[in-house]
Parts: sequence; C-alpha cells; structure tokens
Amino acid sequence: MSLHVHRHIAELRSQLNRLRSEGKRIACVPTMGNLHEGHLQLIRLAKEQADLVVATIFVNRLQFGLNEDWDQYPRTFEADCSKLDAEQCDYLFFPDETEMYPNGMDEQTRVVAPSMTDVLCGASRPGHFEGVTTVVSKLFNIVQPHVAVFGRKDFQQLAIIRRMVADLCIPVEIVGAPVARDSDGLALSSRNAYITEQERPNANQLYQTLCWLRDQVQQGQRDYRTLETAGARRIEKAGFRPDYLSIANAQTLQPAVDDDTDLAILGALFTSRARLIDNVTLTL
Ligand code: PAF
Repeated sequence: MSLHVHRHIAELRSQLNRLRSEGKRIACVPTMGNLHEGHLQLIRLAKEQADLVVATIFVNRLQFGLNEDWDQYPRTFEADCSKLDAEQCDYLFFPDETEMYPNGMDEQTRVVAPSMTDVLCGASRPGHFEGVTTVVSKLFNIVQPHVAVFGRKDFQQLAIIRRMVADLCIPVEIVGAPVARDSDGLALSSRNAYITEQERPNANQLYQTLCWLRDQVQQGQRDYRTLETAGARRIEKAGFRPDYLSIANAQTLQPAVDDDTDLAILGALFTSRARLIDNVTLTL
C-alpha cells in the first residue's frame, strides 16, 4: 500500500512541511469516512488540483446533536484505506478524539460563523455548523493545504466554509465538486446506508422534487413559497417526512425574492432511519 496513514498531528506535519518546502502543492479532502464513489470523485478532483492529496477521516462528534447518529455512523477504516490507495491518494490523516480535542470538546475553542448557520440544516441541527467550522479550521491548520475539496451536495456547508475562509483570511482555495448521484438521481451519501429496502425505490423523491421545482421556476413560476409547499406535499405523498424545502438566494441562502437571479433549491427529508439532503441550482 502506498497510502501513508498518520494518526498524529506532529508526524503528519513534519512530512507535509518537508514536501511543502520542496514546492509541492497540497490538496486536502476532509471526510468522515465510509467512503463511497462521491468521496472518490473528490479525491480525483483534488489530484487534478495539486501534487499530493491528503484525505482526512474523523467522525467529528462536535457536529452531531445529542440525539443524532454519531455512535452509529458507519466506520469502515480498512475498506476506506483500500479505496484511497486504489485512487493513489498520498496521505490519510486519521486522528482519534484525543488528538483532535485534547482538552475535551467542552473546552475546545470554537469557530462560529454567524451568517447562514441558523437556517435550513442549521435550523434542524442546532450547533451543527459550529462543529463543522471548528473541525474544518483545525484540519486546515493541521494540513495547511493550498486547496481543499468539498462536495456540493452539502451546499450550505460549502457556502459556510467559503465564508469562514474569507472572513478569517485562511490561505486555502476552496473547490466545490459536483453532486455524485446514483443512476436514479439519489445523491450519494454515507447515510444512504440507513435507507431500507422498501424505501429505496422512492428515495430519489427529494431529487425529483428539487428538479420539479427548478422546472417550475424555469417556466416562469415566481410564487416561491407556494411552490415550496407544493414540493413538500410531493415528498409526503411519496411516504417521507419533509424537513425543509427552500428556493433560496444561492449566495445568502435566504428565501429567494423576485429580484434574485442566482438560485439554489435545497431540501432535506426524513426516511424512517435517515435524514437525506440534496440541492440543485439555477440562474435566471
Ligand atoms: O462533510 C463532511 O463529511 C463533514 O462535515 C466534514 C467537512 C468532513 C467535517 O467534519
């Protein structure tokens, strides 16, 4: 195996410092593991952007709510290593909680983004994005990459990370990768493992509804709030509980108004055991 696995910050840093001083451009792909084709596409994109790629796997408890799936989150280290190695990923940073939060999570200094964090996923998952911005800024400080790649499936996460990097002047270029989908449109996600066999045939309903909403807007419908309600009904009819559907300004993530031309249509629904998210974008 040519993948180098490091569990400790000091060890990884000394390797990367050497490579950086040789002029190598470093890309970072932060993940929580249980790697699927979507993650591997991030690695491939990262390889196009840099001389070497550092993937990270850390199931960050700080971004999970108390009643969420942190303990059940699939941990598949061996399989993940084989997949990274097959993609010729160079380094894997695989810290444990003591390495990332040596003073405990309560004592950890936090990075708080005030903008865009309390709407959409942030409204359903209070504190989630504070956990994300805190861990991602730590990972950026540890790896000090020139470029970092994130999936556009987590549209809100990507927007918040871009904003954090700009606000804190972190010298890293952020690249967003297209959403990887199954053949029926279902966005690839580690949480798809929680979809039951009975639910799977309809699990692409979120994507279908987002595409339907996009078509309605493209055809000139501008009553966005009524469209969102109609979209939620389609999801209910397919047997799922909608969390939110929002036709939003793609930059601010606020509910879109008539003048907005750059739109993101974002949604989340609950299956019996999973919460799935997805989005589509359009420019008017
Ligand atoms: O998108 C994810 O997998 C996580 O939120 C991230 C960016 C790795 C931070 O833990």
